[in-house]
Amino acid sequence: MIHKSHILFPLVLLSLFSSNTIRVRSQGSDLKSHIISCGSSAEGETDSDGRKWTTDSTYLASSDNTKTAEAGYYDPALPSKVPFMTVRIMSSATSYKFSVPSSKRLLVRFQFYPTTYNSVDSFNGVFDVSANGLTLLKNFSPFITALALTQAYIIREYSIVPVQSGTLNITFTPSTKREKTFAFVNSLEVIPMEEIFKPTDLIGFRGQTVDIQNSSLQTMYRLSVGGDYIPAIKDSGLARTWWDDSPYLLNAAYGASFFNKTFLGVSIEAPANVTIKHTKDVPEYIAPLNVYKTARSMGPNPQVNVKSNLTWVFQVDANFTYVVRFHFCDFQNTLGNQRTFDIYLNNRTAEETADVIQWAGGIGIPVYKDYATHMNDKDGDDLLWVGLHPSLATHPQYYDAILNGLEIFKVNDTGGNLGGPNPVPSKMLLKADAAAQSLLADAA
Ligand SMILES: *[C@@H]1O[C@H](CO)[C@@H](O)[C@H](O)[C@H]1NC(C)=O
Ligand SMILES: *[C@@H]1O[C@H](CO)[C@@H](O)[C@H](O)[C@H]1NC(C)=O
Ligand SMILES: *[C@@H]1O[C@H](CO)[C@@H](O)[C@H](O)[C@H]1NC(C)=O
Ligand SMILES: *[C@@H]1O[C@H](CO)[C@@H](O)[C@H](O)[C@H]1NC(C)=O
Ligand SMILES: *[C@@H]1O[C@H](CO)[C@@H](O)[C@H](O)[C@H]1NC(C)=O
Ligand SMILES: *[C@@H]1O[C@H](CO)[C@@H](O)[C@H](O)[C@H]1NC(C)=O
Ligand SMILES: *[C@@H]1O[C@H](CO)[C@@H](O)[C@H](O)[C@H]1NC(C)=O
Ligand SMILES: *[C@@H]1O[C@H](CO)[C@@H](O)[C@H](O)[C@H]1NC(C)=O
Repeated sequence: MIHKSHILFPLVLLSLFSSNTIRVRSQGSDLKSHIISCGSSAEGETDSDGRKWTTDSTYLASSDNTKTAEAGYYDPALPSKVPFMTVRIMSSATSYKFSVPSSKRLLVRFQFYPTTYNSVDSFNGVFDVSANGLTLLKNFSPFITALALTQAYIIREYSIVPVQSGTLNITFTPSTKREKTFAFVNSLEVIPMEEIFKPTDLIGFRGQTVDIQNSSLQTMYRLSVGGDYIPAIKDSGLARTWWDDSPYLLNAAYGASFFNKTFLGVSIEAPANVTIKHTKDVPEYIAPLNVYKTARSMGPNPQVNVKSNLTWVFQVDANFTYVVRFHFCDFQNTLGNQRTFDIYLNNRTAEETADVIQWAGGIGIPVYKDYATHMNDKDGDDLLWVGLHPSLATHPQYYDAILNGLEIFKVNDTGGNLGGPNPVPSKMLLKADAAAQSLLADAA
């Protein structure tokens, strides 16, 4: 509900100045978000955050070979009963259809809770998901994925290029690699969004850019750096979730072993007397203000900082191009050349002598920068490294670095595919799970 009213807010303002309110209203309805709890029969249920969910039956092109079911077990790690406790199970290819604005990028989000539904064990849920010719998920096993990541549920989120026809068709197809497979989904969200991407420089290939405006992307990571988890309800209109960055910090940097302590930088927060506001260049839909109000810096000791990198490491799928979006807002310094730093992506220099105050134009002003990097398909190419290091080149006042938020997006390949392999659970987890072993054997 909240995100809908946020999206409508500028239109409502517009209507104060426009005599043509009817046109404004019809634009508003074009931007309708679809927030769907699959398999539910209760219209308008709210989750524990107060978001309202509709039922899925009116969106199904056909409900043949599908059924609805309820989870027998509520995993306490779930954020809410709605929309996870109900499910749509599909034993043959099944499509959902959405009427969408033909010129808007679409945020498409799925949630999967692998558990037992009535008597159906979700471990046979292995399937593909496509949308208007794009492959979003290929041979996807929510069960294996959740086991490998030790998560109770899986979120998959995509930003899809505008659908010219105005009809988005999301199709679930059970895998043919096993018998008795089916597809299942607990929630589906389709949210029209502004274009937030432009051609981006490919690091390490001078002058080469990636055409992301014509591409669809999968959200891999979305972090509020140095800050707290930001739930969907607190996002600035797109119901995105922003996670804590600390699990991705590389603890044992060179500086860490040198000083014999883990180098994690420090979490910092905007002081009350610094106002942080969205701007024309960084409007509300880019990120909520809470992302910019907290950050991670290297800390107050320049001797430690110059011998250290502030490094995060992310597991990604090899053989894809990634766009890494850095969100910055310096709420401590007021002038250029006070804090300057280098930005590394996969050990390559993406930016030399980054100066947030100079980029943004002052204290408390958000700014973001995108860089693209290609992951090859060799050993170790499934780890994406992000590093910051103080830049001394311009003799800044402080030897330090800062980062407020980080998003990592996978770009579809030339064949319009975004599907990667399922993550492999550790040997220990596998040993304990014969079902997982047989699934992996079939998927190979
Ligand atoms: C949706 O897409 C699938 C896969 O391309 C196709 O088989 C199906 O006919 C389409 N459904 C509708 C209702 O357009
Ligand atoms: C996107 O593709 C269209 C043709 O499909 C092309 O005209 C346009 O230049 C492309 N956009 C970019 C940013 O390359
Ligand atoms: C470094 O830390 C380890 C364990 O945290 C400790 O065993 C070791 O003695 C420390 N070394 C120095 C030189 O302080
Ligand atoms: C905010 O207050 C602190 C002291 O409480 C002061 O040092 C700082 O200069 C102030 N910042 C601004 C932008 O006014
Ligand atoms: C980056 O450097 C680290 C440390 O030298 C290395 O372990 C890692 O594999 C490198 N990563 C990439 C993507 O090259
Ligand atoms: C920081 O990272 C860069 C790029 O990976 C590397 O060249 C450099 O040696 C690292 N510095 C430290 C102090 O770890
Ligand atoms: C890597 O992706 C490209 C498509 O972008 C594909 O043609 C190629 O076969 C892939 N390579 C491997 C080793 O999977
Ligand atoms: C993504 O897929 C579209 C077709 O669906 C294609 O036009 C575009 O070039 C692809 N993007 C990249 C970076 O290969």
